[in-house]
Amino acid sequence: MQLRIAFLGLGRMGLPMAIRLARAGHDVAVWNRTAGRAAEAIAAGAHGAASAQEAVAGRPLVITMLSDPDAVLGLLDGLVLDPGATLVEMSTIGPDAVAELRKRLPAEVALVDAPVLGSVPQAEGGALHIFAGGTAEDVARCAPALSALGTVEHVGPLGDGAAVKLVVNVATINSAVLLGEALGLAARLGIAREAAFDALGRTTLGPIAGVMRPRVTASHQPTLFSLGHAEKDLRLAVAAGARPDGVIVAARRALAEAHATGLGDEDVSAIVRALADGDSSSQSG
Ligand SMILES: NC(=O)c1ccc[n+]([C@@H]2O[C@H](COP(=O)([O-])OP(=O)(O)OC[C@H]3O[C@@H](n4cnc5c(N)ncnc54)[C@H](OP(=O)(O)O)[C@@H]3O)[C@@H](O)[C@H]2O)c1
Repeated sequence: MQLRIAFLGLGRMGLPMAIRLARAGHDVAVWNRTAGRAAEAIAAGAHGAASAQEAVAGRPLVITMLSDPDAVLGLLDGLVLDPGATLVEMSTIGPDAVAELRKRLPAEVALVDAPVLGSVPQAEGGALHIFAGGTAEDVARCAPALSALGTVEHVGPLGDGAAVKLVVNVATINSAVLLGEALGLAARLGIAREAAFDALGRTTLGPIAGVMRPRVTASHQPTLFSLGHAEKDLRLAVAAGARPDGVIVAARRALAEAHATGLGDEDVSAIVRALADGDSSSQSG
């Protein structure tokens, strides 16, 4: 079934997702705040819109893939969606922002929160895992579009997709921070990094060590998931009720410190390297 879709936000994730939707045969209008990002999507068959309002006009399905709560709420505040349209919010913004979005949208616009597990390669390959929150009817209406992006799991009512996504990201991001600290400790104990990776690969950190190893050892790592977004996700988790004196808060502080040194746009693997090297240099100092 061909759907008329507006896709707002062509960042690292949004661009390959919009391209997949266009290649799946949907009629897709794309918009990005910074002009120029749309060219690749247009080459794949999407229509470039001059404004977000132009993109959403006459489109019953509107998808947002933006940085954070401020970006989503700020953009939607200035838009008029068609009555009867469904907004599918796919960024990682947490359940509070989804509730705020619901309050601000007119009643005749349906809302589904559908954040994604997986990164750029999964977005390119249509292999994302999508945690959808909303009514069964609203989620079912989006399914023909979302199935081009990956597997849809309807996890509960509105906001539950955003909540589950925060929980999942806390696990992944905290594991990356712990991996960095473990590598740093290994360095202080005189264990070579490769040997430390080999040993950690045999532990519960094995999966994250496997993902991070090539990224940490590469001389240049293109950003897939930015350190800044990881910090944002833990900030959202803390605001949503993570223990104030717990490990999530501590990991968030480590990311915030790395962000403050200018690593915000780097790949999240930069925190692993920074902690590994930081512990190492504190040994020599
Ligand atoms: N990358 C991943 O692996 C990954 C995986 C799962 C979930 N996520 C989540 O998915 C979302 C998008 O991630 P990403 O990696 O694609 O981010 P990104 O590359 O940083 O792209 C962010 C997008 O948001 C737009 N934007 C930011 N502020 C805006 C504003 N005030 N008004 C309008 N547009 C605005 C940017 O437009 P400009 O181009 O103009 O800056 C860009 O299109 C984030 O919530 C992230 O946490 C990311």
